[in-house]
Amino acid sequence: MRAWWKAAVVYQVYPRSFADSDGDGIGDLAGIAGRLDYLARLGVDVLWLSPVYPSPQDDAGYDISDYQDIDPTFGTLADFDALLAAVHERGMKLVLDLVVNHTSDEHPWFAQSRSSRSDPKRDWYWWRPRPNNWRSAFSGSAWELDEATGEHYLHLFSRKQPDLNWENPEVRAAIHAMMRWWLDRGVDGFRMDVVNFLSKDPALPDGSGAGAWTGAEHYVNGPRIHEFLHEMHREVFEGRAETLTVGEMPGVTVEEARRFTDPARGEVDMVFQFEHVQLDQGASKWDPRPLDLRELKASLGRWQAGLADTGWNSLYWNNHDQPRVVSRFGDDGEHRVRAAKLLGTILHLHRGTPYVYQGEELGMTNAPFAAIEDFRDIESLNHYAEAVAAGSAPEEVLAALRARGRDNARTPMQWDASEHAGFTTGTPWLAVDPNHVEINARAALADPDSVFHHYRRLIELRHTLPVVAHGDFTMLLAEHDRIYAFTRGHEGVELLVLGNFSGGTVTAEIPGWEGAELLLGNYAQRSEPAAGLELRPWEARVLRRLHR
Ligand code: NOJ
Repeated sequence: MRAWWKAAVVYQVYPRSFADSDGDGIGDLAGIAGRLDYLARLGVDVLWLSPVYPSPQDDAGYDISDYQDIDPTFGTLADFDALLAAVHERGMKLVLDLVVNHTSDEHPWFAQSRSSRSDPKRDWYWWRPRPNNWRSAFSGSAWELDEATGEHYLHLFSRKQPDLNWENPEVRAAIHAMMRWWLDRGVDGFRMDVVNFLSKDPALPDGSGAGAWTGAEHYVNGPRIHEFLHEMHREVFEGRAETLTVGEMPGVTVEEARRFTDPARGEVDMVFQFEHVQLDQGASKWDPRPLDLRELKASLGRWQAGLADTGWNSLYWNNHDQPRVVSRFGDDGEHRVRAAKLLGTILHLHRGTPYVYQGEELGMTNAPFAAIEDFRDIESLNHYAEAVAAGSAPEEVLAALRARGRDNARTPMQWDASEHAGFTTGTPWLAVDPNHVEINARAALADPDSVFHHYRRLIELRHTLPVVAHGDFTMLLAEHDRIYAFTRGHEGVELLVLGNFSGGTVTAEIPGWEGAELLLGNYAQRSEPAAGLELRPWEARVLRRLHR
């Protein structure tokens, strides 16, 4: 039987920045509920909500202090139930963010754990008399001294995000019970935060090298990770139809991903991998460099080939951690609309499940942050403090934050041209991009040539053409530095997908496609027979031919 999610498209909502119903400047559940018709119009099948649980918000909700409730900023459990019912009424599903590599330091489990060395929950987290050399993803050591008991605890992210000890069976059982509680409530699955970090080498040896990911070889795809995920699958998902699980897995390889997503192994349905969003960086994410299109094709092509027979790909350009793709791999100036449509076309025609991040369907861009005071994200603020203290020029650090900072993704959703873009009647927690006067949902809905309607057509293609969801994939023109080209094939139907990643005109030399039917493009159709496969600036085309 074919899994339903192979023909589905997921839309990620970042609740803080989506829609604010009560004027406090922060998005909420009622705000999301008020915008469901917009999402239904786009045609997406699944909503994934970034965390809405009670949280001190040290890492924007990825620091959870209670797994079984809703943060008052976002609403109540009753608001959540109402949202879930409204999502289901529209034939969509809802997936929650599962953040169980770590909790907040304000979670009662950690409060107990830190209360004394002999507390029964001491072993639910990683306590050691001396730190090792592991580094936190948010700068500095991954260890924090707790004065009261004189030991250090591990935190791979902020010091307010202590790592749970998955070696302890009680921890695993508590998490499984919590997951079942949400599924029983009607939730349709989980996006699992850094889930391939759950298993650490219990000896916690020093890592080799230096820099941001020191220690990673001892916790990325660690010794018991497959066992833990299989156990979770068995304890939580077995016997439940129509769920979706996607594991966020920094550092995962194609070979590992095939194991994680092999249905016969019962672990997760698909994974988020990071290779393609690390191609435009040097030593670290704060060292941006231009993308080489050949590297992008080589990377995504390898993932397509690697998961062709076993396993399944997730497809994404954007999420709440990534800068906006039209600014990053496209053109957010003169050719913004065409570039946004091209990027959408290329992604959605790959084999795998596409994820659309809020505002991507409008071609939203990176934001014009002027000064460090304009940023909110702990990752950016910590990096700035550390780099400047180490002697980097503040302007250079700011330039990196502008290019790569996560706040680019988190500026409020642009609903209309009014003050604060229709996101809130109050003061937004992070400033709205001034370009909302031009780039907004109201304008996009009214314009049949908008990025929104292009995304709507892409989603419709996946729903209606089996070749899009189920066809095989062949990369073409691997060495071309401006054209992205591939074919898809399924039961006598073949598609050719072409994208010109440049502001000039280029011709694709691919014989046999002259005169093929144009299914979708981002230019008005030519009246003369398509002049070979000449592609205008940022042009994308999807062509179809049938074999009898
Ligand atoms: C990955 C999440 O996507 C990111 O936003 C978060 O900061 C880290 N995991 C830690 O939870």
